[in-house]
Amino acid sequence: MILPRMSRPAKVLFSAVIFAVAALVTACGTEKVSVPQAQTALHEGAVLFNQRCGGCHTLSYAGTHGSAQNVRTAQFNNGPNFDVRCERPVARVLYAIQNGGFSGVIMPQNVVVGQQAIDVAEFVATYAGHKQPKIPGVVQCSQVPVGTVAEALAPTTTTTTTTTTGSPGSLTGTTKSKVPATAKAKASHK
Ligand code: HEC
Repeated sequence: MILPRMSRPAKVLFSAVIFAVAALVTACGTEKVSVPQAQTALHEGAVLFNQRCGGCHTLSYAGTHGSAQNVRTAQFNNGPNFDVRCERPVARVLYAIQNGGFSGVIMPQNVVVGQQAIDVAEFVATYAGHKQPKIPGVVQCSQVPVGTVAEALAPTTTTTTTTTTGSPGSLTGTTKSKVPATAKAKASHK
């Protein structure tokens, strides 16, 4: 593609562009995570988010752009943009990970489990919403407490007794019910 008649500055510019594109392409991955490595668990959460959630969600701290940029080109499984969307407290994120978003219809359940789910949830709760638009009457994300994982885990421990094992297609071998434990308990007493 470098034409013989291309001027020297044009060739230099052309090579520079190719180099920049190559650098960008190879940078796809953990390089773009901007959470300091010193924050071990949050950094780990960001790396996991980049690998497992980034295809569907945007969050610049994990270097991901999976959310729809434009409603006309949006796809069915584009998830919310976490640069603008506040996801606090952490319990909310853990719930979404286990349930597959809040509706449990589009996002896959349990993309990460155990400690990885906790790390990802803490990362999302801490870093999501930093570009939340200022809307009168809407509480800013920075004013909402991140919450603790202990709080988050309290309700899910009751649901572990209602899980079934060995479901095909499940990453963990356990399938979390989409029905909250309390609703399920009531239903089973009918
Ligand atoms: C296949 C695409 C896909 C993947 C992978 C995915 N998500 Fe989602 N996510 C979605 C979609 C779509 C929604 C909206 C679901 C709905 O409303 O039914 C969603 C919703 C959410 C929500 C709730 C957001 C809100 O405010 O409504 C959270 C939190 C979330 N995802 C976190 C994650 C995390 C963390 C991961 C990685 C472990 C992840 N998602 C992986 C597509 C995905």
